[in-house]
Amino acid sequence: MSPTDSRVERPLPPSIIQVLPAEPLLLMGAGPVPVPAEVARAGSLVINHLGDTMNLVVDRVKEMARYVFQTRDDKIFGIAGPSSAAMEMAVGNLLWPGRRALVLKMGTFSGRFAEMARGVGAQVELLEVPEGEPVLAEQVERKLAGARFDVVTLVQGETSCGVWTRELSQIVCLARESGALTAVDAVCTLGTMPLKKDEWGIDVAFAGSQKGLSSLPGVALIAFSEGAWQALQQHPGPRPHWCLDAQRAQEFWGNHAYHYTAPVTGLLALYEALRLICEETLEKRFARHGHSSLALQAGIEGMGLQLSIAREHRLNSVVAIEIPPGADGARARRYMAERFKVEISGAFGRRIVRIGQMGEQCRSPNLFRTLHALGMALAREGAKLDLSEGMAVMEEYLLQHAGGIL
Ligand SMILES: Cc1ncc(COP(=O)(O)O)c(C=O)c1O
Repeated sequence: MSPTDSRVERPLPPSIIQVLPAEPLLLMGAGPVPVPAEVARAGSLVINHLGDTMNLVVDRVKEMARYVFQTRDDKIFGIAGPSSAAMEMAVGNLLWPGRRALVLKMGTFSGRFAEMARGVGAQVELLEVPEGEPVLAEQVERKLAGARFDVVTLVQGETSCGVWTRELSQIVCLARESGALTAVDAVCTLGTMPLKKDEWGIDVAFAGSQKGLSSLPGVALIAFSEGAWQALQQHPGPRPHWCLDAQRAQEFWGNHAYHYTAPVTGLLALYEALRLICEETLEKRFARHGHSSLALQAGIEGMGLQLSIAREHRLNSVVAIEIPPGADGARARRYMAERFKVEISGAFGRRIVRIGQMGEQCRSPNLFRTLHALGMALAREGAKLDLSEGMAVMEEYLLQHAGGIL
């Protein structure tokens, strides 16, 4: 090719079936998670993004989402994008120059609110706790005393380090009493543990589809209270987003009119994922998640490994495990994937690995396969552990507590 030749050569890559491993990896990381067959089937269909069928899908997705969020909110939207797009919709619609946000930061994702809020010109104050600890209600109370914030942001489960905001409902109550709206990231927790949006008085809650809902990545859900809706209508403009503008989204989700071409396959898949949750019921789903995660944690500790977060603040949806001294976490994860076809997550440079307990991950065959792969991989790294004991402890937990539900 001469230096002036501007032709771009035609690539001839292999088909995607040849690219994918013959034996799919079991996705036991922090998401995406495996999806039920019904969800996969629905996600292979394309229909028109407008019209009677889509209108029905939209109405039913909203109805089922209300159950999952435990809310009667009218303004519920699906968003074409990752969970961060929903966070961006919350931030970009409720905050603007002159507005003040208090961001409760306990890790990577809860901290992301601050970056976004600064990006739309809001004034941001951080309440940051040491890594591995949750934000507590009394800390928030002190921060709110004598101050005025328009929005308080927080996460229910900080996936990056495995911490649970146990005092979420008290924190939301304090924020509300101070006159602030609340925006809650329920990305890894929705559908895995109780979130009572209306009872707790949360103004905006959102989640992605690829975690606790066990659907395909690429669609997020968000619900706005009436108070949040009134506040966002006061935006002085110009509004920074088009796709993520809540008032424009209401055109599609409220009026069945065009906003942008909706992610139809993702919405059909989400419909099925939500339908399966309704069929299972939240109560049984939470019990399945709780027992699955506690069984896994018992197995991990039973084999001699350390969980990274104190029990009372530990997130069940994503379990963080200390990498034993001398072991290489990345190499262990690679071995798990290559040898056992089980994939778990690292943690943005922290000395932990993370195992997801969301949706279809919470099935006993997945637990045994994952615990075995983890033990084998870390033993190869020189960690002192007793894999058989860990497996026995997990089995015992399951027999005692989770007969028939996993
Ligand atoms: C708690 C939490 N918030 C936000 C995100 C961002 O989600 P996404 O990658 O779908 O944008 C994640 C992803 O892991 C998360 O766990």
